[in-house]
Amino acid sequence: MAQRTPPPANWNLAEVELWIISQAKQLANQSDISPSIDLFSQGFNSTSAVLLHLRIIDALRSSGAAGIESATRALSHNLVYSYPVIQDLAAYVVSFAASPEDAQREHVSWRTAQMEAIIEKYTKGLQRNYGSSGYPPTTAPVVLLAGSTGNLGVHILAKLLQDSRVEQVLVTNLPVKGTQTVKEQHIKEFEDSGLDPTLLESEKLIFLRGDISQSNLGLDRGQYGLVCRSVNIVIHNAWLPELNLTPVAFELLIQGMRHLIDIVKTGANASTARFVFVSSVIAVQSWDASRGLVPEDVVDDASVAVGLGYGEAKYVAERVVAKSGLSSISVRVDYISEAQITITSPTKEWFPILLKSSITLGSLPQANEVAPLTSVEDTATSIVNVALHHTALPRALNLVHHHPKMWNDVIKQLQSLIKESTGKDLTLVPFEEWMVKIEELAAGATAQTLETIPALEILEFFRGALRGTGVGPLSAGPASFTTTEAQRVSDVTAATD
Ligand SMILES: NC(=O)c1ccc[n+]([C@@H]2O[C@H](COP(=O)([O-])OP(=O)(O)OC[C@H]3O[C@@H](n4cnc5c(N)ncnc54)[C@H](OP(=O)(O)O)[C@@H]3O)[C@@H](O)[C@H]2O)c1
Repeated sequence: MAQRTPPPANWNLAEVELWIISQAKQLANQSDISPSIDLFSQGFNSTSAVLLHLRIIDALRSSGAAGIESATRALSHNLVYSYPVIQDLAAYVVSFAASPEDAQREHVSWRTAQMEAIIEKYTKGLQRNYGSSGYPPTTAPVVLLAGSTGNLGVHILAKLLQDSRVEQVLVTNLPVKGTQTVKEQHIKEFEDSGLDPTLLESEKLIFLRGDISQSNLGLDRGQYGLVCRSVNIVIHNAWLPELNLTPVAFELLIQGMRHLIDIVKTGANASTARFVFVSSVIAVQSWDASRGLVPEDVVDDASVAVGLGYGEAKYVAERVVAKSGLSSISVRVDYISEAQITITSPTKEWFPILLKSSITLGSLPQANEVAPLTSVEDTATSIVNVALHHTALPRALNLVHHHPKMWNDVIKQLQSLIKESTGKDLTLVPFEEWMVKIEELAAGATAQTLETIPALEILEFFRGALRGTGVGPLSAGPASFTTTEAQRVSDVTAATD
């Protein structure tokens, strides 16, 4: 195991700030680091951010303060992503060392205020309200799908192309890297996902090249005009698959939401258009179960979202679209289990992260709970059904599977998959034991440790599972969410497997 970093000599502000500066210099490999500038603009990346977070947690634990061990385990956020400026980070760490409960309360108010400020910024000028009075549109559906590649996007696109109700599908994606055309990229992704690539020959389909983080989506005049004239349904599926988000990435996603709203509001069909935002159950990651079930509505209290940046940004986007004046719906999607999951799946999502970390540890976590997993196929069908539904819809739907699998069954399937692919026979251990093994590796972790045990990058997420509160693997599922509207509208959530 790598060497642990000695903690600060004292837990006062000056010492802690100096200690963090020295850690940051080492991790970013810089001779100078300013304590008043965002670390991510001074050479920090996701690896250095996670390593700094882990070093701070280890130092806090060695401080011996009362209750510090359990308090650090209850943290629902990565400190460096939440406080990217060292002065703020040091102040938070000092107050956490003094009183974890007070620091956590202050954190919730601080994040809540920050989210409200972003909502305010990106809803300016959206006064004109069309509501749902004009629904349903009198013209045939012309759908703009933002984010038609990726795990879910290709399945939504395939469903739209197969659906005889849909007249046209316009897809917008980031410019393709490399020499592939956008169509070639889609053919490859359809093939990789087991979908029929000949669907992409459909005359209904128009490929646009656009980046939602740019105004007018970065479309040329002709394409922009086409979108404004014809689109009457938007499915906003484009997102960054990262649970931790830098402040810049966070804001780009909200800007993207605003750009899509603006394009619909300036279009010919603004009064009857429907805007479907693909949200996530993580948008309500800090929902307090004593309030009952999560409603099928946008929650006007940002404290329910405090935690991982991914969920906070989804929550902010839900609030922004709800204030857009358009007929809008945020669909909170559960964790998608990829039909095609393999041991080489990209490790940005929690499920492949769990898989890769387990292979390194030699064990998989068991728990006698439901697994909040929905199939990608069902999720895509539900989203298309929602988009084309002929009645007015609520502001949000909870698309959680009504008859989820048991976690231990999923884990046994993974055990067999790993055995088949690698020959390794992983043992099954209780979830708590699996977490202890991971946490032991957190102290003294290096970039190499993160590479082989990526679960360390989202420890807070896996700890959430153990707390049995909030939203994490094992803790979501139908028991926590109202699903009446989702069952009425989506047609598939009530189905058994
Ligand atoms: N996977 C889950 O378990 C899960 C759970 C709940 C909710 N969701 C939500 O479901 C949606 C799809 O998830 P996924 O797993 O399919 O993610 P994914 O595989 O990462 O796909 C994301 C899509 O967004 C596109 N995109 C990203 N940034 C963009 C930008 N600036 N402009 C235009 N397009 C951009 C990507 O395009 P490129 O391919 O060009 O990068 C891709 O098409 C996301 O909104 C996600 O938050 C997923």
